[in-house]
Amino acid sequence: MVIIDNASLSDLEEVYEVERRSFEDPYPLALLKAYLFISGNLFVVARDGKVVGYAVGVMQGRWRGHVISLAVEPEFRGAGLGKSLLGELHRRFGRLGCTYSFLEVGVSNEIALGLYRSLGYYVVGLKVGYYGRGKHAFIMVKDLKGRKGVE
Ligand SMILES: CC(C)(COP(=O)(O)OP(=O)(O)OC[C@H]1O[C@@H](n2cnc3c(N)ncnc32)[C@H](O)[C@@H]1OP(=O)(O)O)[C@@H](O)C(=O)NCCC(=O)NCCS
Repeated sequence: MVIIDNASLSDLEEVYEVERRSFEDPYPLALLKAYLFISGNLFVVARDGKVVGYAVGVMQGRWRGHVISLAVEPEFRGAGLGKSLLGELHRRFGRLGCTYSFLEVGVSNEIALGLYRSLGYYVVGLKVGYYGRGKHAFIMVKDLKGRKGVE
């Protein structure tokens, strides 16, 4: 059974393995470690014996939750884990008083775009070259209070 839990220092090597298997240009272990310390309890993992997915966010200002990264081990995809991890992050953002959540996603990352749309995110902007030359990102926002617009 997969459990969603707080990440701890001892999870980081396994988080990094998920990261490495999920992204062309993975975050280095040292950066993941830095996020573990600056994100408070906004770093969550999915465990099935080992870490099979993770999500990390940070608060920006008093109202904004920023989703920094989300990834699920390839063999565990398509089973709802991405949704569960992000859902847990949204609940934690909400408890901290965030009114909305935002993130960046590659414009051609159809699977992630589908996931975010299904959770109520919508595109509000474009960051040109965000992931490197010619690799643009949409900025997506989700209202955590169930209202139509965001403040
Ligand atoms: C994006 C990612 C985290 C999704 O994780 P996941 O556990 O497979 O996602 P879920 O099973 O919770 O699926 C949630 C939604 O994603 C979309 N989705 C998932 N797999 C999909 C597929 N193969 N094709 C199209 N859409 C898909 C669907 O909208 C799905 O909702 P539905 O089940 O109601 O149709 C995972 O694919 C991943 O780690 N990708 C590589 C890293 C990455 O791109 N991270 C996002 C960076 S912005």
